[in-house]
Amino acid sequence: MRRLVVLGLALAASAIPALAGEVRAPASLLSPDLRALQDDPSRHPGWLWVDGGEALWREAPRSGRPSCQSCHGPIDGMRGVAARYPAVASDGALLNLETRIERCRTDNQQAPAFGYESEALLSLTAAIALRSRGLPVAVETDGAAAPHVEAGRRFYETRQGQLNLSCGQCHDENVGRRLRGDVISSGVGTGYPAYRLEWNTLGSLHRRLRACSLGVRATQLPYGAYDYVALELYLAARARGLPVESPGIRR
Ligand code: HEC
Ligand code: HEC
Repeated sequence: MRRLVVLGLALAASAIPALAGEVRAPASLLSPDLRALQDDPSRHPGWLWVDGGEALWREAPRSGRPSCQSCHGPIDGMRGVAARYPAVASDGALLNLETRIERCRTDNQQAPAFGYESEALLSLTAAIALRSRGLPVAVETDGAAAPHVEAGRRFYETRQGQLNLSCGQCHDENVGRRLRGDVISSGVGTGYPAYRLEWNTLGSLHRRLRACSLGVRATQLPYGAYDYVALELYLAARARGLPVESPGIRR
Protein backbone atom coordinates (compact mmCIF):
# COMPACT_ATOMS: atom_id res chain seq x y z
CA MET A 1 0.00 0.00 0.00
CA ARG A 2 1.20 3.49 -0.80
CA ARG A 3 2.36 5.33 2.34
CA LEU A 4 2.28 9.05 2.69
CA VAL A 5 4.13 10.88 5.37
CA VAL A 6 1.86 13.75 6.20
CA LEU A 7 1.90 15.69 9.47
CA GLY A 8 4.91 13.64 10.53
CA LEU A 9 2.64 10.60 10.89
CA ALA A 10 2.57 7.67 8.52
CA LEU A 11 -0.80 7.77 6.82
CA ALA A 12 -1.65 5.04 4.36
CA ALA A 13 -3.74 5.96 1.35
CA SER A 14 -6.92 3.93 1.27
CA ALA A 15 -9.45 3.14 -1.39
CA ILE A 16 -11.83 5.76 -0.01
CA PRO A 17 -11.20 9.05 -1.75
CA ALA A 18 -10.87 12.07 0.50
CA LEU A 19 -13.38 14.63 -0.66
CA ALA A 20 -12.22 18.02 0.53
CA GLY A 21 -14.89 19.93 2.39
CA GLU A 22 -17.41 17.12 2.47
CA VAL A 23 -18.48 15.97 5.94
CA ARG A 24 -19.16 12.25 5.72
CA ALA A 25 -21.45 10.11 7.85
CA PRO A 26 -19.22 7.91 10.03
CA ALA A 27 -21.18 4.77 9.02
CA SER A 28 -20.03 5.31 5.43
CA LEU A 29 -16.43 4.70 6.58
CA LEU A 30 -17.05 1.66 8.79
CA SER A 31 -15.97 -1.80 7.68
CA PRO A 32 -18.90 -3.89 6.35
CA ASP A 33 -18.76 -6.05 9.51
CA LEU A 34 -18.99 -3.12 11.89
CA ARG A 35 -21.71 -1.48 9.86
CA ALA A 36 -23.78 -4.68 9.98
CA LEU A 37 -23.23 -4.89 13.74
CA GLN A 38 -24.24 -1.25 14.21
CA ASP A 39 -27.48 -1.96 12.34
CA ASP A 40 -28.38 -5.13 14.24
CA PRO A 41 -29.85 -4.56 17.72
CA SER A 42 -29.84 -8.31 18.43
CA ARG A 43 -26.01 -8.41 18.21
CA HIS A 44 -25.09 -4.81 19.11
CA PRO A 45 -23.58 -4.85 22.62
CA GLY A 46 -24.70 -1.22 23.15
CA TRP A 47 -28.25 -2.48 23.59
CA LEU A 48 -27.32 -3.65 27.10
CA TRP A 49 -26.99 0.05 27.99
CA VAL A 50 -30.14 0.97 26.07
CA ASP A 51 -32.11 -1.62 28.07
CA GLY A 52 -30.59 -0.35 31.31
CA GLY A 53 -31.42 3.25 30.39
CA GLU A 54 -35.03 2.38 29.65
CA ALA A 55 -35.34 0.75 33.08
CA LEU A 56 -33.75 3.77 34.80
CA TRP A 57 -36.15 6.07 32.97
CA ARG A 58 -39.08 4.43 34.77
CA GLU A 59 -37.41 4.14 38.19
CA ALA A 60 -37.84 6.62 41.04
CA PRO A 61 -34.43 7.48 42.55
CA ARG A 62 -36.03 6.77 45.95
CA SER A 63 -39.55 6.84 47.26
CA GLY A 64 -41.22 10.20 47.05
CA ARG A 65 -38.95 11.38 44.20
CA PRO A 66 -40.31 11.47 40.64
CA SER A 67 -38.99 9.14 37.94
CA CYS A 68 -37.97 10.62 34.59
CA GLN A 69 -41.13 9.07 33.19
CA SER A 70 -43.43 10.69 35.73
CA CYS A 71 -42.53 14.13 34.34
CA HIS A 72 -41.73 13.30 30.72
CA GLY A 73 -44.04 10.35 29.92
CA PRO A 74 -42.79 7.31 27.99
CA ILE A 75 -39.22 7.56 26.71
CA ASP A 76 -40.41 7.43 23.08
CA GLY A 77 -41.50 11.04 23.65
CA MET A 78 -37.76 11.92 23.56
CA ARG A 79 -37.81 11.43 19.78
CA GLY A 80 -35.71 14.12 18.10
CA VAL A 81 -34.26 15.54 21.33
CA ALA A 82 -30.71 14.18 20.95
CA ALA A 83 -30.57 15.60 17.41
CA ARG A 84 -30.98 19.11 18.91
CA TYR A 85 -28.18 18.86 21.51
CA PRO A 86 -25.90 20.54 22.61
CA ALA A 87 -28.30 23.44 23.16
CA VAL A 88 -28.52 26.59 25.27
CA ALA A 89 -30.77 26.16 28.33
CA SER A 90 -33.19 28.82 29.59
CA ASP A 91 -30.52 30.12 32.03
CA GLY A 92 -27.98 30.54 29.22
CA ALA A 93 -25.82 27.49 30.02
CA LEU A 94 -24.68 25.36 27.11
CA LEU A 95 -25.76 21.77 27.85
CA ASN A 96 -25.10 18.55 25.97
CA LEU A 97 -27.38 15.58 26.44
CA GLU A 98 -25.34 14.25 29.35
CA THR A 99 -25.24 17.51 31.29
CA ARG A 100 -28.94 18.12 30.51
CA ILE A 101 -29.79 14.73 32.05
CA GLU A 102 -27.55 15.46 35.05
CA ARG A 103 -29.38 18.73 35.59
CA CYS A 104 -32.73 16.93 35.66
CA ARG A 105 -31.22 14.40 38.03
CA THR A 106 -30.01 16.98 40.55
CA ASP A 107 -32.62 19.75 40.15
CA ASN A 108 -35.78 17.87 39.20
CA GLN A 109 -35.23 14.53 40.92
CA GLN A 110 -33.19 16.09 43.73
CA ALA A 111 -30.91 13.09 43.69
CA PRO A 112 -27.08 12.95 43.59
CA ALA A 113 -25.62 13.40 40.08
CA PHE A 114 -24.91 10.15 38.25
CA GLY A 115 -21.40 11.31 37.28
CA TYR A 116 -20.06 11.71 33.75
CA GLU A 117 -19.12 8.35 32.19
CA SER A 118 -21.03 6.42 34.87
CA GLU A 119 -22.93 3.38 33.63
CA ALA A 120 -26.23 5.04 34.58
CA LEU A 121 -25.59 8.26 32.67
CA LEU A 122 -24.25 6.40 29.62
CA SER A 123 -27.32 4.17 29.70
CA LEU A 124 -29.84 7.01 29.88
CA THR A 125 -27.95 8.95 27.21
CA ALA A 126 -27.90 5.92 24.89
CA ALA A 127 -31.60 5.16 25.45
CA ILE A 128 -32.58 8.79 24.73
CA ALA A 129 -30.19 9.15 21.76
CA LEU A 130 -31.64 5.97 20.22
CA ARG A 131 -34.96 7.84 19.91
CA SER A 132 -33.24 10.12 17.37
CA ARG A 133 -31.52 7.35 15.42
CA GLY A 134 -31.84 8.08 11.69
CA LEU A 135 -33.09 11.63 12.23
CA PRO A 136 -30.95 14.48 10.85
CA VAL A 137 -28.74 16.42 13.26
CA ALA A 138 -30.58 19.71 13.78
CA VAL A 139 -28.69 21.76 16.38
CA GLU A 140 -29.45 25.46 16.74
CA THR A 141 -26.44 27.53 15.67
CA ASP A 142 -27.88 31.07 15.68
CA GLY A 143 -28.91 33.42 18.47
CA ALA A 144 -27.69 32.41 21.91
CA ALA A 145 -25.88 29.39 20.43
CA ALA A 146 -23.74 31.45 18.02
CA PRO A 147 -20.91 32.41 20.42
CA HIS A 148 -20.60 28.78 21.55
CA VAL A 149 -20.39 27.55 17.94
CA GLU A 150 -17.66 30.13 17.41
CA ALA A 151 -15.77 28.96 20.53
CA GLY A 152 -16.02 25.38 19.26
CA ARG A 153 -14.79 26.37 15.81
CA ARG A 154 -11.77 28.14 17.30
CA PHE A 155 -10.91 25.06 19.34
CA TYR A 156 -11.30 22.87 16.23
CA GLU A 157 -9.02 25.03 14.13
CA THR A 158 -6.29 25.60 16.72
CA ARG A 159 -3.14 23.53 16.44
CA GLN A 160 -2.65 21.61 19.67
CA GLY A 161 -0.25 19.43 21.59
CA GLN A 162 3.32 18.39 20.98
CA LEU A 163 2.33 17.24 17.49
CA ASN A 164 0.95 20.73 16.84
CA LEU A 165 -2.06 19.50 14.89
CA SER A 166 -5.56 20.92 14.57
CA CYS A 167 -8.59 18.63 14.42
CA GLY A 168 -9.12 19.52 10.79
CA GLN A 169 -5.64 18.46 9.75
CA CYS A 170 -6.84 14.92 10.34
CA HIS A 171 -10.63 15.15 10.06
CA ASP A 172 -10.83 17.45 7.00
CA GLU A 173 -7.58 16.99 5.16
CA ASN A 174 -7.06 13.27 5.63
CA VAL A 175 -10.55 11.73 5.62
CA GLY A 176 -10.46 8.18 4.27
CA ARG A 177 -6.76 7.67 4.97
CA ARG A 178 -5.56 5.06 7.43
CA LEU A 179 -3.82 5.97 10.67
CA ARG A 180 -2.67 3.18 13.03
CA GLY A 181 -5.32 0.81 11.70
CA ASP A 182 -8.18 3.34 11.79
CA VAL A 183 -9.82 4.96 8.78
CA ILE A 184 -9.92 8.69 9.56
CA SER A 185 -13.50 9.96 9.52
CA SER A 186 -14.88 13.48 9.39
CA GLY A 187 -14.71 13.52 13.21
CA VAL A 188 -18.35 14.12 13.98
CA GLY A 189 -20.10 12.87 17.10
CA THR A 190 -23.24 11.41 15.50
CA GLY A 191 -22.51 7.86 16.74
CA TYR A 192 -22.02 8.68 20.44
CA PRO A 193 -22.35 7.25 22.98
CA ALA A 194 -20.68 4.43 21.06
CA TYR A 195 -19.55 0.93 21.90
CA ARG A 196 -15.87 0.84 21.07
CA LEU A 197 -14.28 -2.60 20.79
CA GLU A 198 -10.96 -1.18 22.03
CA TRP A 199 -12.72 0.11 25.17
CA ASN A 200 -14.76 -3.04 25.52
CA THR A 201 -17.60 -0.83 26.71
CA LEU A 202 -19.85 2.04 25.77
CA GLY A 203 -18.25 5.47 26.00
CA SER A 204 -19.24 9.09 25.56
CA LEU A 205 -18.12 11.51 22.87
CA HIS A 206 -15.96 13.26 25.47
CA ARG A 207 -14.08 10.02 26.07
CA ARG A 208 -13.35 9.91 22.32
CA LEU A 209 -12.32 13.60 22.32
CA ARG A 210 -9.94 12.92 25.21
CA ALA A 211 -8.39 10.12 23.12
CA CYS A 212 -7.84 12.56 20.22
CA SER A 213 -6.35 15.13 22.62
CA LEU A 214 -3.97 12.47 23.91
CA GLY A 215 -3.19 11.42 20.34
CA VAL A 216 -1.68 14.83 19.61
CA ARG A 217 -0.09 14.98 23.11
CA ALA A 218 -2.34 17.85 24.19
CA THR A 219 -3.94 18.31 27.61
CA GLN A 220 -6.98 16.08 28.06
CA LEU A 221 -9.83 18.21 29.36
CA PRO A 222 -12.14 16.87 32.08
CA TYR A 223 -15.41 15.20 31.05
CA GLY A 224 -18.10 17.81 30.54
CA ALA A 225 -15.59 20.69 30.27
CA TYR A 226 -17.05 23.74 28.56
CA ASP A 227 -14.45 23.64 25.77
CA TYR A 228 -15.45 20.07 24.87
CA VAL A 229 -19.19 20.89 24.98
CA ALA A 230 -18.64 23.91 22.68
CA LEU A 231 -16.50 21.69 20.42
CA GLU A 232 -19.30 19.11 20.46
CA LEU A 233 -21.71 21.81 19.30
CA TYR A 234 -19.37 22.83 16.49
CA LEU A 235 -19.02 19.18 15.42
CA ALA A 236 -22.83 18.91 15.40
CA ALA A 237 -23.05 22.11 13.34
CA ARG A 238 -20.70 20.51 10.80
CA ALA A 239 -22.84 17.37 10.89
CA ARG A 240 -26.15 19.14 10.39
CA GLY A 241 -28.38 17.02 8.18
CA LEU A 242 -26.42 13.79 8.73
CA PRO A 243 -28.34 11.03 10.53
CA VAL A 244 -27.88 10.36 14.23
CA GLU A 245 -26.22 6.90 14.46
CA SER A 246 -26.04 6.37 18.21
CA PRO A 247 -25.48 4.01 19.74
CA GLY A 248 -22.61 3.50 17.30
CA ILE A 249 -20.07 0.70 17.01
CA ARG A 250 -16.42 1.56 16.64
CA ARG A 251 -13.14 -0.33 16.45
C1 HEC B 1 -39.84 17.05 38.09
C2 HEC B 1 -39.97 16.85 36.67
C3 HEC B 1 -38.77 16.26 35.92
C4 HEC B 1 -38.10 15.10 36.20
C5 HEC B 1 -38.28 14.15 37.34
C6 HEC B 1 -37.15 14.96 35.13
N1 HEC B 1 -37.23 15.98 34.27
FE1 HEC B 1 -36.20 16.20 32.52
N2 HEC B 1 -37.03 18.03 32.23
C7 HEC B 1 -37.98 18.60 33.03
C8 HEC B 1 -38.28 19.93 32.53
C9 HEC B 1 -39.27 20.91 33.14
C10 HEC B 1 -37.49 20.11 31.38
C11 HEC B 1 -37.40 21.34 30.48
C12 HEC B 1 -36.46 22.33 31.11
C13 HEC B 1 -36.16 23.51 30.24
O1 HEC B 1 -36.58 23.56 29.10
O2 HEC B 1 -35.43 24.38 30.74
C14 HEC B 1 -36.72 18.89 31.21
C15 HEC B 1 -35.86 18.66 30.17
C16 HEC B 1 -35.26 17.43 29.90
C17 HEC B 1 -34.54 17.10 28.70
C18 HEC B 1 -34.35 18.03 27.49
C19 HEC B 1 -35.60 18.00 26.66
C20 HEC B 1 -35.58 18.93 25.48
O3 HEC B 1 -36.53 18.85 24.69
O4 HEC B 1 -34.65 19.74 25.33
C21 HEC B 1 -34.09 15.83 28.82
C22 HEC B 1 -33.28 15.03 27.81
C23 HEC B 1 -34.52 15.36 30.12
N3 HEC B 1 -35.23 16.34 30.73
C24 HEC B 1 -34.23 14.12 30.64
C25 HEC B 1 -34.59 13.71 31.90
C26 HEC B 1 -34.16 12.46 32.50
C27 HEC B 1 -33.26 11.43 31.84
C28 HEC B 1 -34.73 12.40 33.74
C29 HEC B 1 -34.55 11.32 34.79
C30 HEC B 1 -33.17 11.06 35.18
C31 HEC B 1 -35.52 13.61 33.90
N4 HEC B 1 -35.42 14.37 32.78
C32 HEC B 1 -36.27 13.90 35.03
C33 HEC B 1 -38.59 18.03 34.13
C34 HEC B 1 -38.20 16.83 34.70
C1 HEC C 1 -3.61 12.82 14.31
C2 HEC C 1 -4.92 12.81 13.71
C3 HEC C 1 -6.09 13.28 14.58
C4 HEC C 1 -6.28 14.50 15.16
C5 HEC C 1 -5.37 15.71 15.11
C6 HEC C 1 -7.57 14.44 15.80
N1 HEC C 1 -8.14 13.21 15.63
FE1 HEC C 1 -10.04 12.70 16.04
N2 HEC C 1 -9.69 10.82 15.41
C7 HEC C 1 -8.52 10.38 14.83
C8 HEC C 1 -8.64 8.97 14.51
C9 HEC C 1 -7.58 8.11 13.84
C10 HEC C 1 -9.92 8.58 14.94
C11 HEC C 1 -10.55 7.19 14.84
C12 HEC C 1 -11.10 7.00 13.45
C13 HEC C 1 -12.23 7.95 13.15
O1 HEC C 1 -13.36 7.67 13.53
O2 HEC C 1 -11.98 9.03 12.57
C14 HEC C 1 -10.56 9.77 15.47
C15 HEC C 1 -11.86 9.80 15.93
C16 HEC C 1 -12.55 10.96 16.23
C17 HEC C 1 -13.96 11.05 16.49
C18 HEC C 1 -14.93 9.88 16.52
C19 HEC C 1 -15.60 9.68 15.18
C20 HEC C 1 -16.49 8.45 15.20
O3 HEC C 1 -17.49 8.45 14.48
O4 HEC C 1 -16.23 7.51 15.95
C21 HEC C 1 -14.24 12.36 16.74
C22 HEC C 1 -15.60 12.93 17.07
C23 HEC C 1 -13.01 13.08 16.64
N3 HEC C 1 -12.00 12.21 16.32
C24 HEC C 1 -12.88 14.44 16.84
C25 HEC C 1 -11.65 15.09 16.90
C26 HEC C 1 -11.51 16.46 17.31
C27 HEC C 1 -12.65 17.36 17.69
C28 HEC C 1 -10.18 16.76 17.25
C29 HEC C 1 -9.47 18.03 17.67
C30 HEC C 1 -9.57 18.34 19.09
C31 HEC C 1 -9.51 15.57 16.77
N4 HEC C 1 -10.43 14.57 16.60
C32 HEC C 1 -8.16 15.48 16.49
C33 HEC C 1 -7.42 11.14 14.53
C34 HEC C 1 -7.25 12.46 14.90
